[in-house]
Amino acid sequence: MTRKILVTSALPYANGAIHLGHLVEYIQTDIWVRFQKMSGNECWYVCADDTHGTPIMLRAEKEGITPEQLIERVHGEHFRDFSSFHVGFDNYYSTHSPETRACANDIYGKLKAAGLIEVRTIEQYYDPVKQMFLPDRFIKGECPKCHAKDQYGDNCEACGAAYAPTDLIEPFSAVSGAKPELRNSDHYFFKLSDPRCESFLRQYTASGVLQAEAANKMQEWLGAPGDNKLFDWDISRDAPYFGFEIPDEFGNSTGKYFYVWLDAPIGYMGSFKNLCAKKGLDFDEFFKKDSSTELYHFIGKDILYFHALFWPAELEQAGFRTPSKIFAHGFLTVDGAKMSKSRGTFITAQSFIDNGLNPEWLRYYFAAKLSATMEDIDLSFDDFTARVNSDLVGKYVNIASRSAGFIAKRFNGQLAPADETLPAIRAIFDAAPRIAELYEAREFGKAIREIMALTDGANQYVDSVKPWELAKQEGKDAELHAACSNALNLFRLLTVLLKPILPAVAEKIEAFMNLAPLTWADSQTLLAAGHAINAYNHLMTRVDPKQIDKLIEANKQSLAPTAEVATVDSKKAEKPAKAEKAGKAADQKEAAPAADDGLCSIDDFMKIDLRIALIANAEHVEGADKLVRLTLDIGEEKTRNVFAGIKAAYDPAQLIGRLTVMVANLAPRKMKFGLSEGMVMAASDPDGKTPGIYLLSPDSGATPGMRVK
Ligand code: MSP
Ligand code: ZN
Repeated sequence: MTRKILVTSALPYANGAIHLGHLVEYIQTDIWVRFQKMSGNECWYVCADDTHGTPIMLRAEKEGITPEQLIERVHGEHFRDFSSFHVGFDNYYSTHSPETRACANDIYGKLKAAGLIEVRTIEQYYDPVKQMFLPDRFIKGECPKCHAKDQYGDNCEACGAAYAPTDLIEPFSAVSGAKPELRNSDHYFFKLSDPRCESFLRQYTASGVLQAEAANKMQEWLGAPGDNKLFDWDISRDAPYFGFEIPDEFGNSTGKYFYVWLDAPIGYMGSFKNLCAKKGLDFDEFFKKDSSTELYHFIGKDILYFHALFWPAELEQAGFRTPSKIFAHGFLTVDGAKMSKSRGTFITAQSFIDNGLNPEWLRYYFAAKLSATMEDIDLSFDDFTARVNSDLVGKYVNIASRSAGFIAKRFNGQLAPADETLPAIRAIFDAAPRIAELYEAREFGKAIREIMALTDGANQYVDSVKPWELAKQEGKDAELHAACSNALNLFRLLTVLLKPILPAVAEKIEAFMNLAPLTWADSQTLLAAGHAINAYNHLMTRVDPKQIDKLIEANKQSLAPTAEVATVDSKKAEKPAKAEKAGKAADQKEAAPAADDGLCSIDDFMKIDLRIALIANAEHVEGADKLVRLTLDIGEEKTRNVFAGIKAAYDPAQLIGRLTVMVANLAPRKMKFGLSEGMVMAASDPDGKTPGIYLLSPDSGATPGMRVK
């Protein structure tokens, strides 16, 4: 029976470039979808850009364009990148669409009617200069635990402590530098802690829809029975925001917006609805309660919380079907470490293509490393080069290149009958159903191991019959013809098995061998005698290690603050929710490895403008017990006013006239006592074992305004 299947990959944020980490997911999903289609199932693969939220709004503002212009440009870039890697979406849409808006309003209305939406007043930091409420990630300040400066509002990158933005010492807005004020605002909450959601989620998450590791995680997030750890989810944001406005029951404006994570998964529905209109499909058949169709979400492990709890609960309570399965994968590391901009391993999809690397090399390599688990996967460039060169070029393509020429030259392009009793052919017939099961189970690495064993078998056959020797001998035409025909049949069968992974190579082979598009059923058939093939063209080149060096070099050079930086930031900025009951659980999006390793490139370092400063004046600040007001001369027309937290260690009088080092291009920060226009540099023991603060001074000879680097 043909299955009807709807598949999604997570919707990438619309403010950053697609990189190799993303591609793990889109390639994994695409392979699975291609396998389903080849197997004769009705399978639809939809995706979209995730276009809403504060980071996208701010990024557009920074670029001097509208959010609509930004998301349109990025949509084009994303679509180009996915197409380059042969990711064959049936629809690549946008969450900023009428369909997604309609679905979001519909689901929200149903949840409200069910009594699952509650309005509550919350206290939140507000930026009085920028005139907006600040997401936690846009508030910075001093860590309340270790006193590291410049830490985010949710956790400290120096000591790892987690806290609320209100715990920060001397908080300031990362957007304007202003001191944020606590203000009240009404927010809309989805009552996830409601017993209806709890009992549904307990049953749902234990019903086999999740991988074992994910199901365990869920038990942790849900709490033991009787100890409900679910918290209500804040689904609204205040203006200014780029997103959909939340309508009241009459469709009028409430002035509030849906939080990006509310409409993002609904974007799956929106994209599918748009496809339904194009293809004449029945949307309800796929989304109605108790639908007999299948729905699968491929996601990274960092967004499991949203997909395994919030999303199914929303769907269930709004009266829709729930996902059949959620497939979470691990994160990509490169050469054993997190992707790093400074090492050049934060590689964009576009640079991979622009540097002449073949996208199917990456598809093959990822497939070889992928399994059904949530384990991280490592891209080792030595291993990548070795595998592609030995498996794909040395073993697979080699079968055709050693046999096709003779068929063209000596036999007019026509094949002799294949020998269906040949052990190498029989082995493929037998293994194909097993390999199909491995594809279905997302055990692509295991599938490739089996396929390569079969490829070895095919090569052993060619080695045993030695067409190149037969070709030199008189009267061996029939043997040569049979040998090459068997080899090409083997090659065709292996192509069927590899087609979900190598769709472009398979297409070239279909053209060269004169084949209708190969389906999985072709893994049990041979070509008829007399079948004519076309001239053989080279199918795939080897990886040259120099290309890898070039790729890494190119990604080292593109270090300036580009789109990728924003992707990482945006992810962090969009924290799931205020963790009212189960603090940690909501932080999954943050817990994921960031796409960098804490190393700072020389370019990044050079962005910090360090200058020798003469302390022209220093004085106590009334009402501040830590601060000294410094007047700094850095050779500019005007002196700088800087508040330094050094009162405990220095008497202002003794500072006047000495030289120190200041950060001259730190965003100015509005403080209670006035504007601080930079920062002076001082040493202190991070563990606090040796007390004291020690201001830096240059060697003699340095003069105010000199650059420090
Ligand atoms: N916009 C959200 C998803 C919303 S889905 C309704 C988001 N976007 S993202 O651009 O940050 O990530 C998109 C997908 O790529 C996620 O599933 C994420 O896990 C995956 N990956 C991003 N970086 C990755 C690696 N370094 N390695 C593997 N997958 C990675 O999250
Ligand atoms: Zn800290």
